[in-house]
Formats: sequence, C-alpha cells, structure tokens
Amino acid sequence: MSTPALALPPVAPEFDGVRLREFEDRDLPMVLDLATDPYVPLIGTLPAAADREQALAYLGRQHDKLVSGAGYSFCAADTGTDEALGQAGLWLSMLPLGRATAGYCVAPRSRGRGVAGRALTALTRFAWTVPGLWRVELYIEPWNAASARTADAAGYQREGLLRSHQEIGGRRVDMLLYAAIRPD
Ligand SMILES: CC(C)(COP(=O)(O)OP(=O)(O)OC[C@H]1O[C@@H](n2cnc3c(N)ncnc32)[C@H](O)[C@@H]1OP(=O)(O)O)[C@@H](O)C(=O)NCCC(=O)NCCS
Repeated sequence: MSTPALALPPVAPEFDGVRLREFEDRDLPMVLDLATDPYVPLIGTLPAAADREQALAYLGRQHDKLVSGAGYSFCAADTGTDEALGQAGLWLSMLPLGRATAGYCVAPRSRGRGVAGRALTALTRFAWTVPGLWRVELYIEPWNAASARTADAAGYQREGLLRSHQEIGGRRVDMLLYAAIRPD
C-alpha cells in the first residue's frame, strides 16, 4: 500500500523569530555550510563537504519526502529576513501507531543563539495538527549537550537511555530518548 503524499501547512509554522517553510534552491549556501559540519552527514543524507550538485540533490530529496509521505522536511528560516538557518524534520513512518520522530540541525554559522529550540517548538506545535499523532520522539547521542538542551527548550522530557540503539559513523551508539506528547 503506498503512503499518500503530504501537503505543506497553509500557514508556515513559526515560533519566536523562526519560521518553518519549504526548501528552495536559494537555500543552497546554508546547505553548503551544513555540509561542513562533521556530524550532520553522519545522521542524514547530506554528503560531507557537499559540492553544489550534491547540495542541490539534497534539496530535491527534501521535497521528495513530502511527495512520498515520509514526512515533512522544513527549512528553518529567520522570520524577518527569510534567511535559511537550518532544517527541521517530522518523520511519519510510525504514524499508524500514533508516533513520529523529529530531527533538526542548524548551519554552523547560525548556531549559538537557540535557533534549534525555536524551530523544534514550531515543529512540535505543528505536529499536534497532524491527525492521529500523539507522541513525537527524539533520539540524541549522550555527548550531544546542545541537542539535549534543544529538546529541553522545546518542552521534551527525557525518558531513558537506549543502549546500542543504532549505528552512526560506523559504530553502535547509545541514544537518549526524549519525547513530547500531545497536550490535552
Ligand atoms: C544541536 C544543534 C541543532 C543546536 O543548535 P543551536 O540552536 O545553534 O544550539 P545553541 O548553540 O543555541 O545551544 C542550545 C543550548 O545548548 C547549550 N550548548 C551548546 N553547546 C553546548 C555544549 N557543548 N555543552 C553544553 N551545552 C551546550 C547552549 O548553551 C544552549 O543552552 P541554553 O538553552 O541553556 O541557552 C546544532 O549544534 C547542530 O546542528 N548540531 C549538529 C546536528 C545535530 O546534532 N542535530 C541533532 C541530532 S539529535
């Protein structure tokens, strides 16, 4: 059975200066900056030190996720300037069970000012508009203090440590499980 295509929300979700909108080719410089991060290529499909072609292909794949029904991959942009700052994704393969996972990254040049927490807050509020979604999960490596603080800032609760949960960068790693549940 194929998954139905998703539609972007009619009003772009936003919170405190960060708007979640569709990716556009003009976001290429942000994607090239993201690809200089040593960790981002290990947890997604953006090649390390991506060139222009590879970054454009990455942008195309973000649109494909909507078409395939895999989830929403938003560009996190500044509400004032519309400059791309990072990415925030809501992944829906477990939606039939009422669950989703979220992921985020901020371009190195835009870090250090809480962008991810604001993007995750906007993403989570948007998540509660998805019918049948009750729980959003985050998987965070224990060393990743900035990501754990991001989860805290967006109201997620730490639920435990999942030992040897998955492979990242060629080795098995533990993951902290954080989750938010649909407010009453
Ligand atoms: C994780 C990430 C998205 C955070 O981006 P950001 O919004 O720029 O985060 P900030 O630098 O503003 O930091 C957020 C919080 O973490 C804290 N923090 C940042 N680096 C830290 C560190 N090395 N140790 C402890 N705390 C740290 C900040 O002080 C801030 O805390 P506050 O909320 O109390 O002010 C970004 O570092 C990133 O893209 N990393 C690579 C991809 C990644 O790890 N994604 C998440 C996968 S689970």
